Amino acid sequence: MSETNDLRYFDYAATTPADPRVIESMVGCLGAEGAFGNPASSSHAIGLRARQLVEQGRKQVAALIGAHADEIIWTSGATESNNLALKGYADAASTRRHLVTSVLEHKAVLDTMGSLEKRGMSVTYLRPSAEGEITADAVAAALTAETGMVSLMLVNNELGTLTDIAAISQIVHAAGALLHVDAAQALGKTPIDVNALGIDLMSMSAHKVYGPKGIGALYVSRAAAARIAPQMHGGGHERGLRSGTLATHQIVGMGTACELAAAEMNADNERIARLSERLLEGVLGLEGLKQNARTARRIPHTVSLTIDLPGFFEFMLTGDLAVSSTSACNSAAGKPSHVLSAIGLDDAAAGRTIRLSLGRYTTQEDVDYAVACLQRVVGQCQPMVMGELPAKV
Ligand SMILES: Cc1ncc(COP(=O)(O)O)c(C=O)c1O
Repeated sequence: MSETNDLRYFDYAATTPADPRVIESMVGCLGAEGAFGNPASSSHAIGLRARQLVEQGRKQVAALIGAHADEIIWTSGATESNNLALKGYADAASTRRHLVTSVLEHKAVLDTMGSLEKRGMSVTYLRPSAEGEITADAVAAALTAETGMVSLMLVNNELGTLTDIAAISQIVHAAGALLHVDAAQALGKTPIDVNALGIDLMSMSAHKVYGPKGIGALYVSRAAAARIAPQMHGGGHERGLRSGTLATHQIVGMGTACELAAAEMNADNERIARLSERLLEGVLGLEGLKQNARTARRIPHTVSLTIDLPGFFEFMLTGDLAVSSTSACNSAAGKPSHVLSAIGLDDAAAGRTIRLSLGRYTTQEDVDYAVACLQRVVGQCQPMVMGELPAKV
């Protein structure tokens, strides 16, 4: 996989192709011969068949994260899940109207927090260490008697850094607050047990884990459910938290993707860790190149590299690698990444940063190709560096 006219795909953190086994499972839900019925039509067998598939999908997602099936609420993706968790809490909370999050979060959290501030909530934004870590101590220092919810990501989308959610949840719960975790970049890449980690709400997305786009889920623990108000009103689906006819094919796709992740994550991760190591061994000695958050606890899938050489992007953008110059959402906004700024990169360095993300279909040959490509580009930049030297001296 991963070639279009020899363009190699290194952007799995932006999205993944659906696994062929996922596609096959989805197709059976669409046509007249398949489970096309409305899962809410309980008066006939065609609806009941769809309902059964929806519930099977729910169990598959729940099994991957150690949850009960009835704690999974279907949404359109992690953006909606984040909105439901945060706005849902804010709408239900008459006291404890202080929230804590970090400047490293995805825009789906940050922009939602911004809208809640306009509605009278107060929000504290934690800052990371230079390695991109949000510590339990930083969380503890931000908590007040008014704090109702803390929202942090498990894996950062640009750096691949892991947050110590197990330590943080203890502090959050001791203060009587809820913990929401954005796990869009973590699902299927690192083991998650919501009970062991002490998570009350957790956002997930299928398209980051070889499922289809347009479907995700919010884990809402049984205990937390009463503290969340619905954001989508209608027929009272999903325990009243998210109305709307359920998309059977999408749900079946996400369920299959999660079942595959549960079965294959360890093997995938071992392979990806080896490939990631090979990539880094090939490029870390190159002039002007540095890995961001190198010493932090990270998943191996996501590698952030700053190549501090003039001309890098002129050569790189015409190159052969499908990488992100920043996260996909920031690329759309055309601004330097807020994550890179938060770990201390200036705009120029942030602009010379690429994210390579590896996945299920990345091959050793892809990695060797990427290394050769980066070596070539750095070599092409060298004369420009030399040209600049007198000016700098
Ligand atoms: C950390 C994180 N949160 C949320 C999202 C949004 O997910 P979705 O595309 O499912 O809305 C993304 C996607 O890039 C992400 O990386």
